Amino acid sequence: MAEIAPGAVPSPNIWNSPRVYEVENRAVDPDGVLEAAMRAVRPWRGSTVLDLGCGTGFHLPFFAQEAGRVIGVEPHAGLAATARRRVRDLPNVTVRVGAAQALPLPDASVDVVHVRWAYFFGPGCEPGLAELNRVVRRGGAIMIIDNDATRSTFGGWFRRGLPKYDPGAVERFWTRRGYHREPLMIRWSFQNRSDLADVLRIEFPRDLADAFLREHEGLDVDYAVNLWWRRA
Ligand SMILES: C[S@@+](CC[C@H](N)C(=O)[O-])C[C@H]1O[C@@H](n2cnc3c(N)ncnc32)[C@H](O)[C@@H]1O
Repeated sequence: MAEIAPGAVPSPNIWNSPRVYEVENRAVDPDGVLEAAMRAVRPWRGSTVLDLGCGTGFHLPFFAQEAGRVIGVEPHAGLAATARRRVRDLPNVTVRVGAAQALPLPDASVDVVHVRWAYFFGPGCEPGLAELNRVVRRGGAIMIIDNDATRSTFGGWFRRGLPKYDPGAVERFWTRRGYHREPLMIRWSFQNRSDLADVLRIEFPRDLADAFLREHEGLDVDYAVNLWWRRA
């Protein structure tokens, strides 16, 4: 069992199947909808970017192209090691083992926070939000990407997997704390059905994954997400 920082939310998809999660990341948002929306909130050229819950560091090279400095923080030491290998030739990127609730960063040291499908899932994530408020500088921004379970093919699958999930409670949680909701429609786009099958099987129980595969044709899946953001 790899060393995991206290407070980590179990993430069996990437913890158990990092190679398949890489296939999933490659399929996400080929149209650049998320990138455009994040740039509109707070561009990061020359800035310090924190990618929190960075997993194997898939997004670190992207931010490193323009940012002055990029810091990946990830509680799973094995994944953090993979992230470090990915960015070993990028001098402006560092990867630290840590969790949202105890960030290994000084006060007011970050301009842009990017968190994608990690830890910040609404109620219960207050300690991590307090840490973000501590490390983000005035003029910076926090951007959190999570599922929108109210619409889209993927949103429907998500609710079938988690029937007790309450999107209204999640929305109230964020708006009470001053976060804006940017509803976005992205898509997964796979090279072949076998990649789609592998990804569905790390995201859902086997019986549901197989039902979704039977019900859904083709290589693309429409996928609604929310970009929750707030300027510091
Ligand atoms: C679904 S993965 C997403 C990884 C990455 N953001 C990406 O888009 O490729 C969720 C990640 O959140 C991390 N995570 C879980 N609990 C966390 C916490 N308390 N603080 C920060 N990251 C956490 C997991 O270890 C995992 O790497």
